[in-house]
Amino acid sequence: MLICTTEGKQFDGQEGQSILDAALASDLVFEYSCKNGQCGVCKTTLLKGDVVEMQAQLALTDQERRDHKILTCCCAATTNIEVDAADLSALHGIEIKTLPARVSRVSYLSENIVEVKLRLPPTAHFQFIEGQYLDVMWKAIRRSYSIANISSDKEITLLIKRFENGQMSDYWFNKIQSNDLLRIEGPKGTFFLRDVGKPLVFLATGTGIAPIKSILNCLEYDADYQQKHPITVYWGNRFADEFVWQADFRKLKVDFYNVLSRPVADWLGDVGYVQDIALTNQQDIGDVAVYACGSNAMIQSAKKRFLAAGLPENKFYSDAFVQSF
Ligand SMILES: Cc1cc2nc3c(=O)[nH]c(=O)nc-3n(C[C@H](O)[C@H](O)[C@H](O)COP(=O)(O)OP(=O)(O)OC[C@H]3O[C@@H](n4cnc5c(N)ncnc54)[C@H](O)[C@@H]3O)c2cc1C
Ligand code: FES
Repeated sequence: MLICTTEGKQFDGQEGQSILDAALASDLVFEYSCKNGQCGVCKTTLLKGDVVEMQAQLALTDQERRDHKILTCCCAATTNIEVDAADLSALHGIEIKTLPARVSRVSYLSENIVEVKLRLPPTAHFQFIEGQYLDVMWKAIRRSYSIANISSDKEITLLIKRFENGQMSDYWFNKIQSNDLLRIEGPKGTFFLRDVGKPLVFLATGTGIAPIKSILNCLEYDADYQQKHPITVYWGNRFADEFVWQADFRKLKVDFYNVLSRPVADWLGDVGYVQDIALTNQQDIGDVAVYACGSNAMIQSAKKRFLAAGLPENKFYSDAFVQSF
């Protein structure tokens, strides 16, 4: 047994177990999203001790490696270690469960986007914070999907994009039947709303709008939430028929920009990349909080550019829809 320490709190590390999993097993929650080295959300500094890389730390630069940065989802301790990862107390007590889930409704919202509703057993008590994701397991395939509904809803809603030759896409778009039995594991991830006392900027591409829909609907129905700052959403898609959600809030005031990546005739919205439009529009970048979800390319570009424009690094939150290995 190895002793791992962060913020003065100790947790046990097992040989061959990632530091992130070791922390989660001890009821500490560090920032994470993809769990496979691609998104960089779990990046932290190794302050003491040694680790071994169990899967490639793709999101680390050479300079970051020299600066003793590690990805907690990819590294296991080989000695007692100390890291500087923050423990997210908001997620304490939220248990990750594996549950059966029945397909209750399938709606094809466009040629390449399907909305799937899943029914959990009545005794499941599946708790999550709006913005989190879950894994869906069908046969031997496991894929991650953000939860698009709010936690008080009875069913789970997923918004799923078709990938050419995708194994799970083949199930969602060709094979799925109402009442099919799947398994889910979750909730997972740390993409949830903090900083309600700041102007909020949401960036989404494609079905990356799913957790943002959940977060905004949660604010809309939260009787205690009084909006004091602007909320702006920039949602990018390649095709006009992919804007499958029309935000309709009564209480929330949200400036919503639908952005097409390429110009087409009769399009009245913006054209370009969401991060470019957001940076052009946004005032006082040093004082906002940015939540970005969808393609890793958009997220990495948005992070680089917002940070260069003065956004503090700890005010950029992201959930990258990277490919599963
Ligand atoms: C935390 C997280 C949350 C996610 N939430 C959602 C969600 O809410 N909705 C949603 O539609 N998807 C989401 N995804 C992506 C999803 O998990 C799958 O990766 C995606 O649906 C493709 O699965 P597939 O089995 O159809 O394709 P695969 O069989 O895995 O791959 C088929 C082909 O598509 C390419 N490909 C696969 N995935 C990607 C990708 N993400 N980006 C670029 N190319 C890819 C592969 O290179 C391959 O050529 C999420 C991913 C993560 C990590
Ligand atoms: S790189 Fe570790 S969670 Fe994505």
